[in-house]
Amino acid sequence: MITRLCDKKVSPIGIGTWGIGGWIFSDNKNDKQQITAIRFAVENGINIIDTAELYGRGHAEELIRESIKGVDRESLFIISKVWPTHLSNRGIRKAVNASLARLGMKYLDMYLIHWPNPVASIKGAIGTMEELVDDGVIRSFGVSNFGVTDMQKAIDATKKYEITANQIEYSLLKKDAEEETIPFCQKNKIAVIAHTPLGHGRLAESKELEEMSKKYKKPKVQVALNYLMRSSLPIPRSSNIEHLKEIIGSTDWSLEDSDYKKLRGL
Ligand SMILES: NC(=O)c1ccc[n+]([C@@H]2O[C@H](COP(=O)([O-])OP(=O)(O)OC[C@H]3O[C@@H](n4cnc5c(N)ncnc54)[C@H](OP(=O)(O)O)[C@@H]3O)[C@@H](O)[C@H]2O)c1
Repeated sequence: MITRLCDKKVSPIGIGTWGIGGWIFSDNKNDKQQITAIRFAVENGINIIDTAELYGRGHAEELIRESIKGVDRESLFIISKVWPTHLSNRGIRKAVNASLARLGMKYLDMYLIHWPNPVASIKGAIGTMEELVDDGVIRSFGVSNFGVTDMQKAIDATKKYEITANQIEYSLLKKDAEEETIPFCQKNKIAVIAHTPLGHGRLAESKELEEMSKKYKKPKVQVALNYLMRSSLPIPRSSNIEHLKEIIGSTDWSLEDSDYKKLRGL
C-alpha cells in the first residue's frame, strides 16, 4: 500500500477527474454534482486528486478549485498532466501555468507527461520538469502510460531529481503491467499510480468478483481496489456519493494473501 508520495502522507487511493467537467470539451451542466462529489471525497479522507489539462479542456481543474475551497492546500496532493504535444520548454511552462491558474494554486505536487511522444525530446522535457521543481512550481514529476523502454529513457534524462511515478492503466481487467512495468517501477523506486482501476466501471458488474465479494461481504469495487493497492495507488473516479462511499471503504480492510494470489493467478 502506498501511503507516502514525495515525503507527503497520502491516502492509499486518490480520485480521478477524467470526464468531470466534460471529456475533451468543457461541459458545465453537471458542475454542482461534480463539486459535491470531489468535496465529499476530500472531506472523507482522500487527499490525492488526479487531473490533466486535457480533462474537459481544463474545466476539471476549475472544478477542483471550487471543490477544495477552504481546505488547507498543504494537506492535498494534486497531480496534473501535460499533453504530449506540449513537451517543448515553452509548451510545458505555458501548460503548467495555465493548469495552476485554473486550479487557483501556486504549485502542483506532481506533474506528469501524459503519454510518450516519440517525436519530442524526452531529455528536453525532463530538463524543463527539473527547472520547474527548482522554480517551486511543481514538487515532483513523472510519466504516464510509459512502458519500460520509455521509462528508461526518462530516467536517463534526469540530472538532479528522480522520476517519482508512472501512471498506467491497471485493473483486474488489465493486468499486463504486472509482467514488466510494475517490477521495473518497483526496482527503480517509481510509484505506480493505477488509472482506470475500475475498468471504466465494468468491474462493478464483473461476475468473476462475485465469489470474493461474497466471502468478504464487501462490494466488488472494494475487492478490485484492495487488490490494486498491494502494488499501486489506484485513482478511481465517481460523481456518485454512494459509489464514493464504497471506494473509500476499500482502504480499511485487506484481502488475505491466498485470495490476492488467486486473483493474480499465481
Ligand atoms: N493517465 C491517463 O492516460 C489516464 C487515462 C484514463 C484515466 N486516467 C485517470 O484515472 C481516473 C480513473 O479512470 P476512469 O475515470 O477512466 O475510470 P474508472 O475509475 O475505472 O471507472 C469510472 C467509472 O466507474 C464508475 N464507478 C465508480 N465507483 C463505482 C461503484 N462503487 N460502483 C459502480 N460503479 C462505479 C463511475 O460511475 P459513477 O460516476 O456513476 O460512480 C465511472 O463510470 C480518471 O478519472 C483519470 O483521473 C488517466
